[in-house]
Amino acid sequence: MRKQIAAANWKMNLSLTEATTLAEQFLQEMTPAKNHQLIVFAVPFPYLTAIQQIVADTPQVFVAAQDCSAHAKGAYTGDTSVAMLQSIGVQYALVGHSERREYQLESNELLAQKVNQCLAAGITPIFCCGEPSNVREEEKQAGYVTHQLKESLFHLSADELQKVVIAYEPIWAIGTGKTATSEQAQDMHAHIREALQIQYGAEVAQSISILYGGSVKAANANEIFSRSDVDGGLVGGASLVATEFAAIAQALR
Ligand code: 13P
Repeated sequence: MRKQIAAANWKMNLSLTEATTLAEQFLQEMTPAKNHQLIVFAVPFPYLTAIQQIVADTPQVFVAAQDCSAHAKGAYTGDTSVAMLQSIGVQYALVGHSERREYQLESNELLAQKVNQCLAAGITPIFCCGEPSNVREEEKQAGYVTHQLKESLFHLSADELQKVVIAYEPIWAIGTGKTATSEQAQDMHAHIREALQIQYGAEVAQSISILYGGSVKAANANEIFSRSDVDGGLVGGASLVATEFAAIAQALR
């Protein structure tokens, strides 16, 4: 069975005390994850080690960086390399979140380099894709997302691709309270899996976890995660409330 994943993206929120309290509360609230389930906390860089220590003894709960550098090392002030993440034991990193694509002007080509960096360091990239509202209005979302996958992932070998997690996050659903319907999520996830199948074959395509992100909350997680090609969620706002995120994690198949 594919890994089912509940990933929290705390974005640029919380003080250290608030962050550690939230992680501790979550661990108290959560029901133990099954073998095929994972919980991942994408936390601000300064808190990676602190949160990692809190979750260390809980099976199948991990931390993720929210980004990484496209470069291995050197004169890149303010950036964090995958080697640095690896050296503190971080095993996951978000790559290509739409907020970074928008505010840091991250291109598909740059994201391909970040994916390469992650894989070289044994870090699982959680690769984010998804269309803006005008593309959805024109019903061109399938081609838009395929293009993102092609330019950032399809240079990988099948073995490499199998180490990637994909998160589909339609930009119009992020932080807007406007969730995609479970049909819209399933349709796009099936489309993504078909694109993977054309490029890499059915076995590889079936093995990749594809998460949905965009206004996931406890009240809609069951419905969204029940869809056959949806393997969990990448959760922003609702992950800042321990009881909400615990309920979302419990909704994993
Ligand atoms: P929201 O859950 O707040 O809509 O954010 C989604 C997201 O961007 C997760 O990466």
